Amino acid sequence: MSDAIANASRDLDATFQEAYRRPSDGIWHAPGRVNLIGEHTDYNDGLVLPFALAQGVSVAAAAREDEVLELRSLQAAGEAASVPLDGLAPGAIGGWAGYAAGVAWALGEAGHRVRGASLLIDSDLPQGAGLSSSAALECAVALTLCELSGIDIPRPELARIAQRAENDFVGMPCGIMDQSAALLCTADHALLLDCRSGLSTQVPLDLAGLTLLVIDTRAPHQLVDGAYASRRAECERAADALGVPALRDVTDLTEALASLDDPVWRRRVRHVVTENHRVEATVGLLRAGAVTEVGAMLTAAHLSLRDQFEVSWPEADVAVEAAVRAGARGGRMVGGGFGGSAIALVPSPLVGRVCDAALNAYEARGWRPPAFLTAVPSPGARRLA
Ligand code: GLA
Repeated sequence: MSDAIANASRDLDATFQEAYRRPSDGIWHAPGRVNLIGEHTDYNDGLVLPFALAQGVSVAAAAREDEVLELRSLQAAGEAASVPLDGLAPGAIGGWAGYAAGVAWALGEAGHRVRGASLLIDSDLPQGAGLSSSAALECAVALTLCELSGIDIPRPELARIAQRAENDFVGMPCGIMDQSAALLCTADHALLLDCRSGLSTQVPLDLAGLTLLVIDTRAPHQLVDGAYASRRAECERAADALGVPALRDVTDLTEALASLDDPVWRRRVRHVVTENHRVEATVGLLRAGAVTEVGAMLTAAHLSLRDQFEVSWPEADVAVEAAVRAGARGGRMVGGGFGGSAIALVPSPLVGRVCDAALNAYEARGWRPPAFLTAVPSPGARRLA
């Protein structure tokens, strides 16, 4: 454990004692993620390649004798929630607490008996930055409640339970990528996940003198609104029209495009099919030690997300363009889109230049400056103390 994480968990434990007047039983952590490539492919039964960040959500917690879930967050002081476990139902509780309560509900729906518990949540992930702060929260709470309740669930299944919390309790129809990344990633690797079979492979992510720079465009995204859901619905309808279970199954893109009349569906299909190929190509490049060449894949993915899937936003387009002009090998928006972060693959000596280029480009347009973060492929969810 790094010194920073050890110090942070000592602090969280002390704050837990102040808040609940008793020691915690332990501290659990789940990371945010960056998806290297494979965007809007997960709910099309396709391939994704995320890795875990060093930043994430930590939970100090203690079991209770009653059947109550008590929730506090250092990021929402004064908004404590206390909910009886048997009264949990979708819609019962909203806001940040809904993600945590939703996990308790989804565990119950899956037939597990969750014990009452007091939780104190802390996060060092920027919210709305497209780095999966919601999945990190769900997965940290999932691990916490499972351990406190003596529930032992294989991690791929726990990811599905956390996804169910978000789909059915929070009401965001996300795919399985973010929860899988939080629970299954390992340090120094990206996770190649086949979202149909659920099978995953760890792919070594050796950046060899390059830095994966996260540019938080500070245009916060709102995935609970309709745009994400409507992309998903378009993909499902296009798959129906093509007579395949999911867009993952399109094998002949030219033929598929020729058989669709709707130009919007054609664009969506083109993105999903080519994006799955880009994931495979990226894995091949990483395995061959050709990480610099991954940059071209990132930029191609960005253009496809911008022009075919139409989920990019102006701040992301400008960040990617400025980064590439300043020497990045490539870059793209990450996550669901419509706000959040971009990533750029940058030769490490050029990181300062790339940051300056993005800052200048934003200033020239009168936009708030972006924030920067170095993405280091880190371990997945775990108990810290
Ligand atoms: C969000 C969702 C994921 C995935 C991405 C797009 O992050 O939570 O399931 O669909 O968007 O790739």
